[in-house]
Amino acid sequence: MMTSVSDPRLNPAHSMTTYAVRGPLVRWLASEAGRGHEELGPYRVLDVGCGAKPYEPLFAPYATSYVGVDPVENPRAELRGSIESLPVEDGAFDVVLCNQVLEHCDDPALAVRELRRVTAPRGRVLASTHGVMPYHPSPTDYWRWTHAGLEKLFVDGADWASVRVTPASGTTACVGMIVAMNLDLALRRLHAQRMSPALVTAINRAAEAIDRRTPRLREPTQPGTLFANFHVVAEVAA
Ligand SMILES: C[S@@+](CC[C@H](N)C(=O)[O-])C[C@H]1O[C@@H](n2cnc3c(N)ncnc32)[C@H](O)[C@@H]1O
Repeated sequence: MMTSVSDPRLNPAHSMTTYAVRGPLVRWLASEAGRGHEELGPYRVLDVGCGAKPYEPLFAPYATSYVGVDPVENPRAELRGSIESLPVEDGAFDVVLCNQVLEHCDDPALAVRELRRVTAPRGRVLASTHGVMPYHPSPTDYWRWTHAGLEKLFVDGADWASVRVTPASGTTACVGMIVAMNLDLALRRLHAQRMSPALVTAINRAAEAIDRRTPRLREPTQPGTLFANFHVVAEVAA
């Protein structure tokens, strides 16, 4: 069964403590899904570490096939396997998704080589992973990146026509996310969680406004910046 469009991961509200990750992620994937269709026509999608496949509806209008792979027992996954050894032929997919998976895998360099191996000529990997995020095993949690480290991981790991790494949101959004998470936790402990949505919304909206007005808080090469999530587009030559 496909994820419903009412799934909060597809329509992230500002009241979510992880809005700084989820809001920009959905907008980026929706835009890349359309761009992929303009450039490639109908395409084949592999969703690596697919979990509940929350983003399938964004790609479904353009996809001739949408295959999920996960290393754990997962009724949504068509294939079982890890990112370090994908049970898939070379160049079998045009769009390879890898959302919030790299931080959980044993060997990120091997993972990048595998992502490249299964991507067809003119195809692309769309990956996202964290800069700053509390520990969240699924089933393990090993890694965090800077934009420079993530770019190096992809560029050094395989042969790409281009690699683009962009922060999902700004420094204030990242700090706001951590504050919102801890505030939400405290309110739950105090049995006052009904106050959380309004306060978290206020934090997220204020953070968004500050980042929007201050470009250097969104510029990854500025020392002192901090990002919750990064988006990677790694394209394969024709
Ligand atoms: C945080 S969830 C993200 C799920 C989904 N991609 C999403 O964006 O909602 C992490 C996923 O990565 C999978 N995973 C963990 N280690 C992995 C590995 N070595 N290879 C492939 N997938 C892995 C987990 O089983 C889980 O489905």
